[in-house]
Amino acid sequence: MSKKLFIETLGCAMNVRDTEHMIAELNQKEPYELTEELSQADLIIINTCSVREKPVAKLFSEIGLFNKHKKEGAKIGVAGCTASHLGEEIIKRAPSVDFVLGARNVSKITQVVDKKHAVEVSTDYDESTYAFGEYRTNPFKAMVNISIGCDKSCTFCIVPHTRGDEISIPSDLLVQEITKAVDSGAKEVMLLGQNVNNYGRRFGSSDEKIDFTGLLQKISKIEGLERIRFTSPHPLHMDDAFLEEFASNPKICKQIHVPLQSGSTALLKAMKRGYSKEWFLNRCEKIRTLCPEATISTDIIVGFPGESESDFEDTMDVLEKVRFEQMFSFKYSPRPYTEAAEFENQIDDAIAGERLSRLQKRHTQILDEIMDAQLGVVHKVYFDELKPGNRAAGRSDDGKLVFVEGSEELLGKIVDVQITKTSRGALDGVVITE
Ligand code: SAH
Ligand code: F3S
Repeated sequence: MSKKLFIETLGCAMNVRDTEHMIAELNQKEPYELTEELSQADLIIINTCSVREKPVAKLFSEIGLFNKHKKEGAKIGVAGCTASHLGEEIIKRAPSVDFVLGARNVSKITQVVDKKHAVEVSTDYDESTYAFGEYRTNPFKAMVNISIGCDKSCTFCIVPHTRGDEISIPSDLLVQEITKAVDSGAKEVMLLGQNVNNYGRRFGSSDEKIDFTGLLQKISKIEGLERIRFTSPHPLHMDDAFLEEFASNPKICKQIHVPLQSGSTALLKAMKRGYSKEWFLNRCEKIRTLCPEATISTDIIVGFPGESESDFEDTMDVLEKVRFEQMFSFKYSPRPYTEAAEFENQIDDAIAGERLSRLQKRHTQILDEIMDAQLGVVHKVYFDELKPGNRAAGRSDDGKLVFVEGSEELLGKIVDVQITKTSRGALDGVVITE
């Protein structure tokens, strides 16, 4: 009988892919069956995120809880960014943890899984870190890392510390990997990296000359691949050639993440983001002009050290001007190994909280207007999941979640759907062609 694996994935898309990668590697050693019942698992893995403090604090109470409910002899492993930044300290604070595996080291899972108190958190460059695992949660979609690590030094961000230097993966390997996924039924690929449009700046051993735009052109030649998504690009590297490729290439889904962080040029400088409010607005205007059907999503941090009311007004102003279709917003959280944690002018939590709720309230109004306007619109929806009650779920080209009545025969198909009902988070519709 195969062993059972319970795995919890927190944080970003990179972590979701790392989880697949760990499952693939484990299965190469011996078969594991996934379970959602903690008490039945032989192996429990928490794939952590350390971008903000809250989830890190939660980790230790969760380990305690898991240790109490696990079956006898079951192992607990902590993987991901918190594993990278706390390393051995995790085992010191929670000796019930059997192994610690950093975000850069997931391909080494089989080497640590049977070693009591193993800690593998090096961020040195290592070829094996991009050996691709053969496992996908969803057969209709593939996630592929195009680069690992991050070379930026945004002053609020712990990721360069946890994931190490940025290294691009040779394009031929990527084409091979995506072709394999397409051959086994995936029509869509999500290209992943902390900074995807910095692709090609540095390879491990290859001396290939290619940038992100070139990679998109190369990947779109793969026969049978119909949709390309990517996350996350950096606003600084959104040159005209890239935006023109985004707008004109029919395989590229018209959904783009443009992480703002702050609308204030002074704060952007303190964050070391490398662009100004004007540049950001100019890039979004260019997207709206070249590609009016595109949706733009963003990340915003509120209460970064030194944020004045007028800095915050700049953020609100960008929201008014761009009208993001999706916004992920957070209160600034000081992180270890970051410059901003040492800044003197930290913002009072109550002020940050009030600004965050003002921002979110205004965004909700904008979102309601955007979603209400969807009534009657026809979207091409790629169905990849069944839901209870004879419903199928999929994404429109511009990234909206759409439900229709339907069953298996819709899965893996891209179908025209007319929207009949709207809400803030999703749309309902009817299939109009097949
Ligand atoms: N380059 C990555 C960023 C990873 S972190 C990407 O574009 O996906 C994801 C988001 O978390 C960031 O865009 C930022 O908005 C938020 N974040 C990072 N560090 C933070 C901190 N210290 N406090 C609050 N939010 C933070
Ligand atoms: Fe973090 Fe900035 Fe890189 S947000 S992941 S340091 S681009």
